[in-house]
Amino acid sequence: MFHGVAKALTATSFTSVSRGVLFGIRQYCKKTATKLRVSEALLGAELGENVKVQGWVRSVRPQKTNTFLHVNDGSSLLSLQVVAGPQLNDPLLTFGSAVEVTGTLKKSPHQKQPVELEADQIHIVGECNPVDFPFKIKERHGLEYIRQFPHLRCRTNAFSSLLRIRSEATAAIHSYFRDNGFTQIHTPIITSNDCEGAGELFQVEPSGPEVEKDGNFFSVPAFLTVSGQLHLEVMSGAFSRVYTFGPTFRAENSQSRRHLAEFFMVEAEISFTQSLEDLTKVMEDMFRSATEHVLAHCVEDVDLFHKHVTPGHRDTVDAMVSKRFPVITYNEAIDILNHSSEKFAFPTNWGCDLMTEHEKYLVKHCGNIPVFVTDYPYDLKPFYARDNQDHPKHTAAAVDLLVPGVGELCGGSLREERLDRLSARLEEAGLEDAYSWYLDLRRFGSVPHGGFGLGFERYLQCILGVDNIKDVIPFPRFSHSCLL
Ligand code: 4AD
Repeated sequence: MFHGVAKALTATSFTSVSRGVLFGIRQYCKKTATKLRVSEALLGAELGENVKVQGWVRSVRPQKTNTFLHVNDGSSLLSLQVVAGPQLNDPLLTFGSAVEVTGTLKKSPHQKQPVELEADQIHIVGECNPVDFPFKIKERHGLEYIRQFPHLRCRTNAFSSLLRIRSEATAAIHSYFRDNGFTQIHTPIITSNDCEGAGELFQVEPSGPEVEKDGNFFSVPAFLTVSGQLHLEVMSGAFSRVYTFGPTFRAENSQSRRHLAEFFMVEAEISFTQSLEDLTKVMEDMFRSATEHVLAHCVEDVDLFHKHVTPGHRDTVDAMVSKRFPVITYNEAIDILNHSSEKFAFPTNWGCDLMTEHEKYLVKHCGNIPVFVTDYPYDLKPFYARDNQDHPKHTAAAVDLLVPGVGELCGGSLREERLDRLSARLEEAGLEDAYSWYLDLRRFGSVPHGGFGLGFERYLQCILGVDNIKDVIPFPRFSHSCLL
């Protein structure tokens, strides 16, 4: 009966029932119910006790006498089974509604779940009209479908799993740096430099009537940061290991599956280092440590992706964490590409930038595990990259980490610490005045140093096998789209 009523509800009849109705048998409780998160209840905390759980209904299964609900509060992919007797039946108990359930936590007679909550009271905190709700009970919606609802997609299993993994991976990255003696620096979001020199800047100016007609708010042009690197370099004049992890912005007019206008970058800078090996070691160790942590601490969430969203990807991830990452030079990469039978859309002659198709080919060629490519042509790299002073193929001490399914995950380099070379390059580019402070860093206690940046969304794509970067960030921003 309950089932039929819920299905037949229309938007009008649904909202006509008042919100927040308290119903059920009020029982006299000696002890106030202990509030538990779903994950705590599932672990059997307070077994046999009077408990209260709050969350959203993920399934409703009316049976002859009892109604079985699954309630989820975001603390775990698994939901808590609630058994509601006939006296608690209510047509407003629908998929997506928010509830507060009080009752006794019991060992479940079924093997499917360790515990269940025998409800004494169910309070509907927020109704959810199943007719209008874009997600349907028992349907597995694809990532592309749920992407249309950025304000609601956290209610789906797939996206809530992604958000838990993202949170855990963030914590793991911070732990890696803390455990390895790095100091976190909060680099600014608003800056007056274009670190990458690629001109992909969003300019920052106030809006509204107070805008001064003459001149900029900051008296100089200011932009959203494309990288915290130069600010980390400032700090690496006093701290031998620093890192930052925050949002970065690029005005790239790209609709690609691996570019966003706003993305999160993990950046590290290490002083007293003279070899790219010191950088690749940190990149590889951080990748491995974060990934092992996520695999160990988000078992069900990762399984959901590897079983239902990207079947077969688990083997790739296991290979990535168990094998050492090979290192090839750019020269070798070009040789590999030129000896391949693959037809590439973009040229592969020496001096060309490696495109996604090249990067993906190189990863496959090296056994479908992450691969470092070092020593790129000098002219391809920004002013800060250290000159290898080689000839005739002039290269810089720069390194990219390429990974399965994505291509470039990290970009880094040794920095040009020699004052004469750096000022010559800045002068050539007409940037010596803008970067006089940067030259100062080389005047006062300059040391060989280097660092890298890792695109956090690309990292998540890589370990979960997700094809589109928009599906691994809570609120994607890209050209012609800034929803919410
Ligand atoms: O290679 P990039 O441009 O390097 C830098 O910005 C350096 N200043 C970092 C450093 O040395 N401290 O960017 C680093 C990484 C890329 O490898 C890529 O993973 C990611 O940032 N990335 C993007 N991710 C999403 N959307 C975009 N538009 C991205 N652009 C770069």
